[in-house]
Amino acid sequence: MSRHYAVFGHPVSHSLSPRIHAAFARQAGIALDYVAIDTTDFDTALRDFSARGGDGANVTLPYKQQAAAACAVLSPRARRAGAVNTLIRNGDTWHGDNTDGAGLVRDLTGRHRLDLRKRRTLLLGAGGGARGVAPDLLDAGVGDLFVVNRTPERADALADALGEPGRVHPRYFSDLGAIGEFDLILNATSAGRDDVFPSLPMSLVGRRTSVVDLSYGEAAIPFLAWARAAGAHDAIDGLGMLVEQAAESFHRWHGVRPDTDAVYAQLREHDARLVSAD
Ligand code: ATR
Repeated sequence: MSRHYAVFGHPVSHSLSPRIHAAFARQAGIALDYVAIDTTDFDTALRDFSARGGDGANVTLPYKQQAAAACAVLSPRARRAGAVNTLIRNGDTWHGDNTDGAGLVRDLTGRHRLDLRKRRTLLLGAGGGARGVAPDLLDAGVGDLFVVNRTPERADALADALGEPGRVHPRYFSDLGAIGEFDLILNATSAGRDDVFPSLPMSLVGRRTSVVDLSYGEAAIPFLAWARAAGAHDAIDGLGMLVEQAAESFHRWHGVRPDTDAVYAQLREHDARLVSAD
């Protein structure tokens, strides 16, 4: 019997997750369907999905924090993030997990061979995406973590939630001109999608700086173009993270860890709109 999975978001129709999960399922010999559900009303869409017998789901922009609120139980990492990207059916309720941070760290340290330890790190954004990855960046051993967000209160709230005041520092966008150089800069805002990206000082980037955009495809182009113009050592989009977080979710649902390299290579090769990783 085929099992039912979905990804909820808005917009989500161009999501690669259905392709990725279909490829993992073929590899593992598991029968499932996985569809994208584009909704402006997450709670109702999730209730409908439950009623139709949905077994599990991913959640993306802009519903990761709302998804956390919809869960009866949260994994420790989802609770720490206050954001959920993976829903696991448990009777009539949902368990929430967050595989974004593990996916990001696995992509950066495994595929891109970056040593994250002691890196002076700048995280742009304080929404669900930023909340999902910040705890894992700390666990991976980054040095000081500076959090900057358009709405400063959300940067303060994320810094408070992380509970390491000696290491995590909220700052304003207007501070960035005089804050010095970073070893690692991550864009976890949704600014590249429908807005002009806020202009950032090139003084943030040095010759050894790795710059990462958590999004992929066209949404990652403006930020990574800025990084290259500023002379970054690496400019990495979120395609690898996407595949790795999907693998973590797949493992939660099916108990099987898929081989991600082949799926990553296929997506890189076949989708001409995706920017190159380096
Ligand atoms: P996600 O779950 O993907 O993080 P989100 O919770 O809606 O989605 O968060 C989007 C992030 O992008 C937020 O940090 C948001 O900043 P605000 O908290 O001030 O809204 C940020 N963002 C979106 N558009 C932006 C823009 N044009 N400039 C700067 N930041 C932007």
